[in-house]
Amino acid sequence: MLRAAVCVSGGGTNLQALIDAIEQGNVTNTQIVGVLSNNAGARALERAREHGIPSAAVCPRDYQSREAFEKAMLEKLCQMAPDLIVLAGFLVKIPEEMVCRFPNRIINIHPSLIPSFCGTGYYGIRVHEKVLERGVKITGATVHFVNEGMDEGPIISQKAVAVEDDDTPETLQRRVMEQAEWILLPQAVDDIANGRIRVVHGRVCRERSGQDIKETER
Ligand code: GRF
Repeated sequence: MLRAAVCVSGGGTNLQALIDAIEQGNVTNTQIVGVLSNNAGARALERAREHGIPSAAVCPRDYQSREAFEKAMLEKLCQMAPDLIVLAGFLVKIPEEMVCRFPNRIINIHPSLIPSFCGTGYYGIRVHEKVLERGVKITGATVHFVNEGMDEGPIISQKAVAVEDDDTPETLQRRVMEQAEWILLPQAVDDIANGRIRVVHGRVCRERSGQDIKETER
């Protein structure tokens, strides 16, 4: 059973999608062992409580330095003894020490098709504002492993979403969540929990199933 810890900052709809997928049996072999937020008022924490999942808030303003905050966050996560850390709308830059502690064991959902509209300054609704400003016709979402870079780790999956002429950042954000994020994130957790993917030379490869092997060898 994969022990997943989920980090959240806001609404927690991606967390909800994962909870629902586990409860409905669409994600198997997975248990959410804890939810951590940098924001004590996050709706996402209530969602965890509603489903009997242990939750905790570690807020930067309660610590004297960034280092002290990061240390507390890492300690709290380690207490959950996770196999996988899922960043589901977590607006905190992941410290290098955490990446070293959990190599290829942290995943993030980003609301664009990486490498477009990602990196420093591209988070939350801002991503969709920039997409509309640039006038691209296709956007989407990406699930990737987290490395020391900003949105630079190995890509697990991506899904395209059409931009409509009358979109606002809010309508586009909603469509990207509905058509891409809430589907991709649970799928990625299921793939990891069931050993279907691995990272080879910085790229994510899908394990070939017995069926695939037979078909290629035919
Ligand atoms: C999502 O679009 C996520 O990709 C982004 O922030 C939003 C958070 O949504 N980083 P939620 O908290 O899961 O509802």
